[in-house]
Amino acid sequence: MIDLFTPWTFKGLDLKNRVVMPPMCQYSVEKKDGIATDWHFVHYVSRAIGGAGLIIIEMTDVEPDGRITDNDLGLWSDKQIPALTRIVDECHKYGAKVAIQIAHAGRKAEDAAVPVAPSAIAFNEHYKTPRALTTEEVKAMPEKYAAAIARAVKAGFDAIELHGAHGYLIHQFQSAYTNKRTDAYGNDLAKFGVEVVQAAKSVMPADMPLIMRISAIEYIAGGYGLDHSIALAKKYKEAGVDVFHVSAGGEGPIAAAGKPGTHAAYQVPFAREIKQAVGTPVIAVGRLEDPQLANAVIGNEEADLIAVGRGMLRNPYWALQAASELHKETELPRQYRYGFPSLRH
Ligand SMILES: Cc1cc2nc3c(=O)[nH]c(=O)nc-3n(C[C@H](O)[C@H](O)[C@H](O)COP(=O)(O)O)c2cc1C
Repeated sequence: MIDLFTPWTFKGLDLKNRVVMPPMCQYSVEKKDGIATDWHFVHYVSRAIGGAGLIIIEMTDVEPDGRITDNDLGLWSDKQIPALTRIVDECHKYGAKVAIQIAHAGRKAEDAAVPVAPSAIAFNEHYKTPRALTTEEVKAMPEKYAAAIARAVKAGFDAIELHGAHGYLIHQFQSAYTNKRTDAYGNDLAKFGVEVVQAAKSVMPADMPLIMRISAIEYIAGGYGLDHSIALAKKYKEAGVDVFHVSAGGEGPIAAAGKPGTHAAYQVPFAREIKQAVGTPVIAVGRLEDPQLANAVIGNEEADLIAVGRGMLRNPYWALQAASELHKETELPRQYRYGFPSLRH
């Protein structure tokens, strides 16, 4: 029987348990240079000490104007590698594996003088109207993702996550709501994402998993549903995605009828559907911070891994505490043995 603390192996990635820290922007770069700071070091290493099996570093952008804000991480320069290597190496000491989310914010780049997007449509009245990328510029974009991913591989990451969710650039291309193009990238809503996936794979070692975060449904009126995201995911899988990290929404104002559920585990049904229909492992995320519930999602095989976001912001030791509550064995730093007397150390 599998549970939250059953190890998981996929290609070259060996996780000691099924607990993932999902990407969460810290907006904590100090010099607008995209370089991780001591905040990032302490923040991520704390979750490694706290027992997470896989830590996914926050949205890290492929070019300066691909950032949500100028305080976001970037990987458009080799100068950004060493600070990330320091985080990865330290997390490894505590048995955590580390991935990084590679992204471009597109029309949601708030500090860009002129953001770029598939079409010149603003996110809402508070955002700048983006400039539509030319076809040549769209063709060149996957190379920027690949260059950032090649740097991530050099930095020592164990896996890569592409941000295809929450209304950022890949999502903007895959949605009829934001992609009004008349060229090939408008005729086939998956084309841009597929090219990014292929470019990513071309610079990754063969045994390194490529994870893709996807919005399973949109929350705007008339937004896409699961049929569309499953069709996209099948194409992305064929192009090389190994694991889907299933989220939802982020594309625009939430329609009254489409208001996301506020119940625990609200996105698990999407993860289960994508796992079954597409046939890849999935990470479920969204209000899974109750250890019994997280354990049941794994035990019932609705998802292969679960991610705990806000729960880990509150408690970096969430995984250790979950192991203790569920009476599971897990590695424990000996320094903390008095805090978790039921765990092996
Ligand atoms: C402060 C904060 C920053 C976030 N930044 C990102 C991000 O960089 N990339 C991303 O895909 N999701 C981001 N998210 C969404 C989380 O990864 C996660 O999907 C969401 O919080 C739901 O999970 P939870 O209920 O366990 O918190 C962020 C969430 C929070 C609270």
